[in-house]
Amino acid sequence: MDEFLQNLEKFARLNKIPVILDDTRDYLVELCKTLQPKRILEIGMAIGYSASNLLKASPNANITCLEASLPNIEMARKNFANQGLTERVNIIEGDCMLELPKLKGQKFDLIFLDGPKGKYLEMIDMILPLLDEKGVWVSDNVLFRGMVRGNQPIPFPRFETTVHVLRDFLDTLEQNKDLDTQVLHIGDGLSVVKFK
Ligand SMILES: C[S@@+](CC[C@H](N)C(=O)[O-])C[C@H]1O[C@@H](n2cnc3c(N)ncnc32)[C@H](O)[C@@H]1O
Repeated sequence: MDEFLQNLEKFARLNKIPVILDDTRDYLVELCKTLQPKRILEIGMAIGYSASNLLKASPNANITCLEASLPNIEMARKNFANQGLTERVNIIEGDCMLELPKLKGQKFDLIFLDGPKGKYLEMIDMILPLLDEKGVWVSDNVLFRGMVRGNQPIPFPRFETTVHVLRDFLDTLEQNKDLDTQVLHIGDGLSVVKFK
């Protein structure tokens, strides 16, 4: 990772901006090197850390990023500009639940979902039509601090809804016979979905 991204990661950790963990970044970078995507979609861009990593590992790609937080968007724009990436990024401001349906008709080779965890289940039907037949869809935090797998009681009431949504999200993906779904113990848990 270059110096700019090292500093951006430090800034994010220092300011408690929840960007991808190091092993998640390494997995995504390797995936990009193999897949060589041209059209990437990211849901939950924050300040552009993961998007920058994806772009730098995919020299032929452009990325569409959905993000709701205006302060994050402002920082992301500066970060992309400082890396010479602006031309390759299309930022869509707003709630992904409203913005995703507007992308209907577009196809992406790589989709990275890192937005609101409580909405993952609802987003399945919005995201699958956007995935190219040979594309890969990766979602972050699907094992959510180890609370998702198994039916053990959830130790923190404030996470109950999220954990139930993530359990239903993984069950729905795994039960869909048209999909090949893997759940990887990388970072906070990644699901990796392809069409069979
Ligand atoms: C975990 S952070 C993304 C981190 C980023 N992918 C990275 O690793 O550099 C999640 C982001 O999703 C955004 N977000 C949350 N709910 C959203 C929504 N409904 N629509 C769009 N963005 C949302 C938050 O503002 C936050 O910036």
